[in-house]
Amino acid sequence: MKFFVDSAELPEIQKLNAMGLVDGVTTNPSLIYKSGRDFLEVIRDIAAVVPGPISAEVTAEDHPTMMREAEKLVTLGKNIVIKVPLTVDGLMTCRRLRQDHIPVNVTLCFSLNQALLAAKAGASYISPFVGRLDDQGQDGMGLIQDIRDMYDNYGFETEILAASIRHTDHVRRASLIGADVVTCPPSIFYQLFTHSLTEKGLAAFRDDWAKTGQRVV
Ligand code: G3P
Repeated sequence: MKFFVDSAELPEIQKLNAMGLVDGVTTNPSLIYKSGRDFLEVIRDIAAVVPGPISAEVTAEDHPTMMREAEKLVTLGKNIVIKVPLTVDGLMTCRRLRQDHIPVNVTLCFSLNQALLAAKAGASYISPFVGRLDDQGQDGMGLIQDIRDMYDNYGFETEILAASIRHTDHVRRASLIGADVVTCPPSIFYQLFTHSLTEKGLAAFRDDWAKTGQRVV
């Protein structure tokens, strides 16, 4: 399973990237707003640091303007993936970009039928928003499982990119289901390292080691 960082904060991305954990990056207009930075500059910077796929989202809602935005966004790096919303115009844009072999991430997916449409439009990635479904009492991970089953039924090559990740159990379950990618905010990445027994074990080793009075270096 690939790990993407869901962030537009360059220092955070660089830190995780240095650990070899970052296979790609996803951004959206809200994350760009949060970064306080110029959209084109921040995407260019991220694409220069992380060699994997970098999702940059169109902001227009009509197909012709989405296409014009996409043409500009792809110039920001060799690894840019155009992110489009799951709308009629978004999927028209997806189809058109895929004809030119430009990778596309279809975002704001909340149903199995939407995921089917995206795959038929040739999407490289489908981004189901797990946390936002959970937030309104629905089963976000259930949707990931359903999409996995449906894509496998028909041999669709669209990669399932589990998004809107709220906690580490989403990551655990996505890995068991066989999601292709999970995109996590940096805070969730760090939580993946932690376990109370690791902390407890480390403390015990530290104490016992101190009692030996020895040093390795
Ligand atoms: O990148 C899109 C997605 O991960 C958004 O997450 O937390 O705003 O629902 P969230």
